[in-house]
Amino acid sequence: MKRIALFASGSGSNAEKIAAYFADNTSVDISLIASNNPKAGVIDRARRGFGRRLHIPVLLFDRATFYDTDRITQLLQNQHIDLIVLAGFMWLMPSKLVQAFPNKIINIHPALLPKFGGKGMYGHFVHEAVVAANETESGITIHYVNEHYDEGQIIFQASCPVLPTDTPEDVAQKVQVLEHLHYPKVVEDVLMR
Ligand code: GAR
Repeated sequence: MKRIALFASGSGSNAEKIAAYFADNTSVDISLIASNNPKAGVIDRARRGFGRRLHIPVLLFDRATFYDTDRITQLLQNQHIDLIVLAGFMWLMPSKLVQAFPNKIINIHPALLPKFGGKGMYGHFVHEAVVAANETESGITIHYVNEHYDEGQIIFQASCPVLPTDTPEDVAQKVQVLEHLHYPKVVEDVLMR
């Protein structure tokens, strides 16, 4: 049995796609959904929607617990987590956690890294920057996580065109299609490595 911990603090659409992808897989368990934001859409989805249907426990933590204690690392180790999947999780992973899970933490970023990455580049800020820069394409990057924002080794990228008439919302929609299509499969690939 391979065990996944999902970290999310946004609406949770990627977390839901990943959970649904593995729902009937008896050798993969989504062991928990972790978040720093009790008001995030993902928590509602996890408590009332897919998480409840699939019996996935929710773990909420605050900044002090995450950065000043080893509690989250220990909990993940005690649960024998094989892969930590960031799906719209915006906090930098503490270095102790990264070191405890070498090449076992992956993230999805809504642009073609190394462009449009780094601190403050998340969600709609990314799509606004892409449109402002008159890019002709954008896409997704799935990468290993290290101690720096968006700098770990790239595992997978997929691109989509950006038209001169596209708004940031248009780009966000195209990127989300790519995320939902590819992230669950890439998670599976990495898990089986
Ligand atoms: C996704 O687009 C993901 O790529 C992005 O947050 C969104 C979460 O959506 N992540 C980042 O920007 C990380 N820097 P979701 O909550 O609907 O899955």
